[in-house]
Amino acid sequence: MKRDVRILLLGEPKVGKTSLIMSLVGEEFPELVPLRAEEITIPADVTPEKVPTHIVDYSETEQSDEVLREEIVKLLVNGGAEKGSKIPIILVGNKSDLRSGSSMESILPIMNQFSEIETCVECSAKNLKNISELFYYAQKAVLHPTAPLYDPEDKQLKLQCVRALSRIFSISDQDNDHILSDAELNCFQKLCFGNPLAPQALEDVKTVVWKNTSDGVQDNGLTLNGFLFLNTLFIQRGRHETTWTILRKFGYDDTLDLTDDYLYPPLRVSVGCTTELNHLGHQFLQKLFDKYDEDKDSALSPAELKNLFSVLPYMPWGPEVYSNVSLSDDNYISQHGYFCQWMLSAYLDVHRCLEHLGYLGYPILMERESQTSAITVTREKALDLEKRQTQRTVFLCKVIGPRGTGKTDFLQAFLQRSTERNERDPGPPTIYAINTVSVANQDKYLILEEVDVETEFLKTADAACDVACLMYDVSDPDSFNYCASIYKQHYMDRGIPCVVVGSKADLIEVKQHHGMSPSEFCYKHRLPSPLHFSTLLTHTHTHIYSKLTWAAMYP
Ligand code: GTP
Ligand code: MG
Repeated sequence: MKRDVRILLLGEPKVGKTSLIMSLVGEEFPELVPLRAEEITIPADVTPEKVPTHIVDYSETEQSDEVLREEIVKLLVNGGAEKGSKIPIILVGNKSDLRSGSSMESILPIMNQFSEIETCVECSAKNLKNISELFYYAQKAVLHPTAPLYDPEDKQLKLQCVRALSRIFSISDQDNDHILSDAELNCFQKLCFGNPLAPQALEDVKTVVWKNTSDGVQDNGLTLNGFLFLNTLFIQRGRHETTWTILRKFGYDDTLDLTDDYLYPPLRVSVGCTTELNHLGHQFLQKLFDKYDEDKDSALSPAELKNLFSVLPYMPWGPEVYSNVSLSDDNYISQHGYFCQWMLSAYLDVHRCLEHLGYLGYPILMERESQTSAITVTREKALDLEKRQTQRTVFLCKVIGPRGTGKTDFLQAFLQRSTERNERDPGPPTIYAINTVSVANQDKYLILEEVDVETEFLKTADAACDVACLMYDVSDPDSFNYCASIYKQHYMDRGIPCVVVGSKADLIEVKQHHGMSPSEFCYKHRLPSPLHFSTLLTHTHTHIYSKLTWAAMYP
């Protein structure tokens, strides 16, 4: 919303510009006026739109073209010209007292030729006709411009406006039946305007739409076409502010983009803190899931997922989601997997996550100031360690080991997937797997991140995590060397718990070409003795993952 409005009066000498300003201010016609009135500012509380308004006079006799140009630049800056919006124009016919009948007929062709002309008005400074109206229209043209919404030539909403209103419709259609029921319309009305519609008004609205469209009303509710028609009607009747109020409520700016303030609310996350979805975020996402799980199989098919994200300009989850989380029997994203993926997104890139929640309408539907209320920023890890307890529910485990050790299998086994099944899985390889692990009867989220030691892992920061899983291949005599050197280089004396896991435990264990055996190494460095993992020994899996979670929670 604009902070102030600048109105510049332009025209040939003697048309009555100065007189108009003086009439407005003095509420009577001044017989004698100076060539040019001083700039005046009308305070916010006495303007109809409650925005401070500056009125600037121009006189060709007194002012050079250079000065005029400067004044126009001021308008451009005030109007946000950097985003490409045009300065709206009001065409004023003054001295209507000297003429009987209207000049509109000769004006209309000019209006049609220039889309910047918002409206035209006939007035008289002499008998004070339409004076306050004229300044009100000017103020409205700035605050609620037609140009971004409506094409006067085609007599229809512009594409960008249709897109925005379609998103608003989708979000407001809470049961996803593509119709706004009375209850949904009232809810919408309350969100946008503060109070529900009177029952008669609601019926009137539907009757107007029903009379004027073929498909605007269905099952006693408003369809998307009906909703669009209604907004077209508002604009055609000069009630742009109604449509603008709706658009602004849903986060749009004057060029019909969602504002940065809306999409990217500030959230401070200090070093050592992490971000998690809290119960509000959970509640919102649960509703969203229920809305789009149309066949109620507790899983989202690709089509259902696409619909869920249809209010975003892009698909936020790539194909990797199918490898990040556990899937349903049909290889769909299960409800559990859905929440896991949101948790992962909130943990890894919270600002992106907030952006997604913004597109999905979180602040509007939850009636919150912003999406940040869906997120809990945990306290610093150092404080957790000091107090020997944690309120966190999400923990990061880096799975570190040389190539070919079976890290990917280890991640996929965490999602209860066998290697066989992997082969027909739709998802591409990913470095993350997230699932819940029950610890002392509470579900905690554990993120496994696969780290390829041979390529990355050079900086100390790469080592940061809640628990490190150092993995070696029991059948490869060279593989433990990597774990040992990574441990010494990055984890010794750092306070990050480490768990050594020997993979491929179904194969014959060979002697490692390291000075010490893995068991001796762990004993010496006071690490828990090595665990053994094999994709074939599925009964041991739970034990390993919960051991990792325990270690992460209670280092
Ligand atoms: P410049 O400052 O020279 O550009 O002129 P201006 O556009 O400011 O016009 P100004 O207000 O000085 O008015 C010019 C003449 O028209 C004055 O004699 C006014 O009294 C007269 N006038 C202004 N408005 C009206 C009106 O609504 N009706 C009639 N009859 N006369 C008007
Ligand atoms: Mg003048």
